[in-house]
Amino acid sequence: MDEDTGAGFVTPQQRREFIRTHTKLLKVPHAPEISLFVADDSTALWQKTEDELGEIGLPPPFWAFAWAGGQALARFILDRPEMIVGKHVLDFASGSGLVAIAAAKSGAANVQACDIDAFAIEAIALNAESNDVKVSATQDDLISCDAGWDVVLAGDVSYERDMAKKVTNWLHALHLRGAKVLIGDPGRSYLARTQLTLLEEYQVPVTRDLEDMEIKKTGVWGFGIDGAIA
Ligand SMILES: C[S@@+](CC[C@H](N)C(=O)[O-])C[C@H]1O[C@@H](n2cnc3c(N)ncnc32)[C@H](O)[C@@H]1O
Repeated sequence: MDEDTGAGFVTPQQRREFIRTHTKLLKVPHAPEISLFVADDSTALWQKTEDELGEIGLPPPFWAFAWAGGQALARFILDRPEMIVGKHVLDFASGSGLVAIAAAKSGAANVQACDIDAFAIEAIALNAESNDVKVSATQDDLISCDAGWDVVLAGDVSYERDMAKKVTNWLHALHLRGAKVLIGDPGRSYLARTQLTLLEEYQVPVTRDLEDMEIKKTGVWGFGIDGAIA
């Protein structure tokens, strides 16, 4: 989707070029089977986006990092392909596309990624291509939608109160109708811990610029009380 922000008209191609120019293709620390176009300084990258492309009021470049929750979730499904093989999978709030790519590598029948940020849509496409997998990406806000996915994955989505509440209610409804829902999260403020069961925990290397630490204890969570994934 192209949009005229008033400060400039930016095409998907320009976004891709920007991503290629200002990030590096690096292995994901906790899922080195996957490489992503990533940055090491979020503020500088954010400033460059506005300066070079003339876009104003952009969201932070979440797409330029492998977040702790996404890394844990990617590791979890890469190690358990039996959960993913032949399934229709949604990676909600995909950012770089990390979790979607892990699902594709684990043998999903198809993988849909979504993110409301137009840069993420291009990052997902570039990253999927670089990892030689197929992922389709939409900028539509899918909260409250149900396309009959077998597996719904959400990496690091509990950092903002209103969003976390809406997302949790929606994911819970998907769980109740029989989808496998998996959430990767390093214990962000709005994680709905009381509704969730911890399935696995990892020590995940993270970007110091974002987290103010090198390693973050990060869980993979499912709904339910006994750790079984319904
Ligand atoms: C912290 S990042 C996590 C990215 C990725 N899942 C990972 O773990 O590396 C959160 C992402 O949520 C996206 N987001 C926020 N609200 C959304 C919504 N309603 N629908 C889809 N994506 C959303 C942001 O654009 C951002 O890319």
